[in-house]
Amino acid sequence: MCGIVGYIGPRDATPIILGGLKRLEYRGYDSAGIAVLQNGDIAVRREAGKLSQLTDAVQKSPISGKIGIGHTRWATHGAPNQQNAHPHLGHTGKVVVVHNGIVENFLELRDELSAEGVDFKSETDSETIVHLVEHYIASGLNLIEAARATFEHLKGANVIVVMSADEPDKIVTARIGNAGGVVIGFGEGEMFAASDIPAILEHTREVVFLESHQMAVITRSGADFQTLNGTKLEISPQTIAWDPVSAEKGEYRHFMEKEIHEQVRALTDTLAGRVDFDEGRIRLPQLNLDEALAKRINKIYITACGTAAYAGMVGKYLIESVARIPVEIDIASEFRYRDPIVDENTVVLAISQSGETADTLAAMEEGRSKGAILWSIVNAIGSQAMRIADGSISMQTGPEIGVASTKAFTAPIVDLYMLAILLADLRGTIDPVKRRQMVADLRFVPDLVGQTLEREADIEKIAHALKDIKGCLYLGRGINMPIAYEGALKLKEISYIHAEGYPAGEMKHGPIALIDEEMPVICLAPKDPWHEKMISQIQQAKARGGPVVAVATDGDELVADMADHVLWIPETPWMLSPVITVIPLQVLAYHIASLRGLDVDQPRNLAKSVTVE
Ligand code: AGP
Repeated sequence: MCGIVGYIGPRDATPIILGGLKRLEYRGYDSAGIAVLQNGDIAVRREAGKLSQLTDAVQKSPISGKIGIGHTRWATHGAPNQQNAHPHLGHTGKVVVVHNGIVENFLELRDELSAEGVDFKSETDSETIVHLVEHYIASGLNLIEAARATFEHLKGANVIVVMSADEPDKIVTARIGNAGGVVIGFGEGEMFAASDIPAILEHTREVVFLESHQMAVITRSGADFQTLNGTKLEISPQTIAWDPVSAEKGEYRHFMEKEIHEQVRALTDTLAGRVDFDEGRIRLPQLNLDEALAKRINKIYITACGTAAYAGMVGKYLIESVARIPVEIDIASEFRYRDPIVDENTVVLAISQSGETADTLAAMEEGRSKGAILWSIVNAIGSQAMRIADGSISMQTGPEIGVASTKAFTAPIVDLYMLAILLADLRGTIDPVKRRQMVADLRFVPDLVGQTLEREADIEKIAHALKDIKGCLYLGRGINMPIAYEGALKLKEISYIHAEGYPAGEMKHGPIALIDEEMPVICLAPKDPWHEKMISQIQQAKARGGPVVAVATDGDELVADMADHVLWIPETPWMLSPVITVIPLQVLAYHIASLRGLDVDQPRNLAKSVTVE
């Protein structure tokens, strides 16, 4: 997923754009570039590597102007180098474009344009866009008309921002499909465009999110919105409540560290306004769920990718346990292609931090096309997964910048816990005493997270012991089995150590052959209904010489006597235990990666949201 920033107004665009790109670097970072209109010409600076390389280049060879666009790139077509970096200048040098997404018909467009004599400078699909715009301008269209004609010619999901030296009073942008968002910011006599809110939050809170197949013509005084076929749209800005600080690191070394510790507040926020502790009831008004609907639901598919999918796996235990609705977890990249069995009483529930993950959005479209009820649990305000759903639950954690998801893992688990209670309450499948108890237990979750985080120093010591391991197994059972997958993903994606999550009961069917002195085993053994099973699991691992790190409930001396290291957690109701058992695994992975001197917030090969297949 790439980062885009545009500016038009009375100030110098360069520092505004570079500052905005800095706040979007988490979205994709193998090259970056900026273009401004300077003395009537388009001046461009592009650099491979991190944004700091571009900033240095601009300092060495400054450019400035009142209108400009910038881009941080996560390569899809063409190596991550300077020639493939955006912005891309057209063959006349008058038009410049930045782009997010994939032009699926770029090869035929490239052939058509090359036949007209266009000399391509890069390997990218993006470059076809700017030459196409110039092609239409050469045929007599103005920038808006040329941009519209170009957008209609492109196949695939794309976000485009374009400006021209011959029409220096405007920036044109459009969104087609799910290739990341476009947010238009309204300032005082100045305007902004960006792919995400943090890029422009210090300048304005008044924003409009472009929907798919919408276009915006942005001038200093405002923006005109229209559909791609030119129908005028009246869209009023909405106010974003986030403060700029919440999108910054604060006193932490990394966004991931900050976001791990933010979970106390994030879980407080995700509960806010939804829990009636007096009545012992849950309210999720955004879901548009009533008794009639709750009673006719015959199946729920939870579909997501990566960490979000593991949160969904916990949701299966919660919803089936109290609401008695069959829940199937489907990795979105599989769900979208397997012709799932869906009818009008099926819910497809997507979970997504960014709300822009292409596979997850495609899975939602698949569910929609088969008549499913579409729900989503999403963090990014105004994102596609929130907007296309029939009902949604906002994670309300504030922006998650670190590529490795933490608070956007625990928050949806709490949201799924609340959803399970609400469904059970409406369906009459839970007795009031149990319902009240489940609701009452929610009150303590943020504090239990805080208590667990207070043990960070002990966890860091264990990280020192494990920082040079070559591989690691994570084992869990029951409601904590998904935490084995999530713990392993945290370790591998930021420390680059191979780690595998496994249902503990499966070890004897093969993987136990892996265990020896060189293969530590992290066993999730909290006081939950599967505790006894995990005791024997620890014994099996120890019998093969495997070093065991156990996640255990305070006071559990039985586990402590067997394990080599213990990650202690406070006593927690078992249905909420995944929210707590994951915390030491997040902290452990963070410290191991930090000790290995790796780029925790921007791990190699990864982007914060994958808006391409
Ligand atoms: C999580 O640490 C990873 N960065 C990744 O698995 C992520 O959860 C996945 O790409 C889904 O992203 P989303 O929640 O924004 O849809």
